[in-house]
Amino acid sequence: MNLQPATLQRIDEVITHYPEKRSATLPLLHLIQEDLGYLPEDTETWVAEKLGLQPINVYEVVTFYPMFRRQPIGRRHIKVCRTLSCALLGGYKTCETFEREFNVKAGQTSADGEVTVEFVECLASCGTAPVVLINDDLHVKVDCAKAKQLSDQIKRDAAARR
Ligand code: FES
Repeated sequence: MNLQPATLQRIDEVITHYPEKRSATLPLLHLIQEDLGYLPEDTETWVAEKLGLQPINVYEVVTFYPMFRRQPIGRRHIKVCRTLSCALLGGYKTCETFEREFNVKAGQTSADGEVTVEFVECLASCGTAPVVLINDDLHVKVDCAKAKQLSDQIKRDAAARR
C-alpha cells in the first residue's frame, strides 16, 4: 500500500488511542481513503495485519458503509442531492445535465478521469435546493443552466492543466 509517510505515522498514532486495536478499523479506513482517494484492493489485508484481524472483518466494514470507495474517483467529485427538496426542485434534471456534459451515468467516472458524478442524500442545505457538492465546495440553486456553467468551468480548468 503506497501511503504517504505522514499517513503511516498518523495510522500508528491513531491505533494507540484505542484499548482494543480492532476499534481503530474505521479511523484507519478513513485515513487511507483520505490519502489515496479510495480503498485499493489490498486494503483489507493491510488493515487486518495492522490490527490483528482477519481480512474478512475489514471487508465487512468497507462494504457496509457507503462512504467508502473501492474504485478510484475523478479529480472532481460531483455529488448531486436527490432527497425531497432537491428532487422536487429539479435535482434529477441537474444530474442529467452533468451526465450529458461529461458523457457518464450517475455513479460513473468520465473516461478522462476528470469527474465522477454521483447522487447523494441530503446535503443539509434544503432551503437552497437543488444542491450540488463539488469536492468541498457547495453550490446552491443549481438548475440546468447553472449545472452547464459549472461543467463548462470544469472543462476549462481541465484544458488549462493540459
Ligand atoms: S434535500 Fe437536498 S440538501 Fe436537503
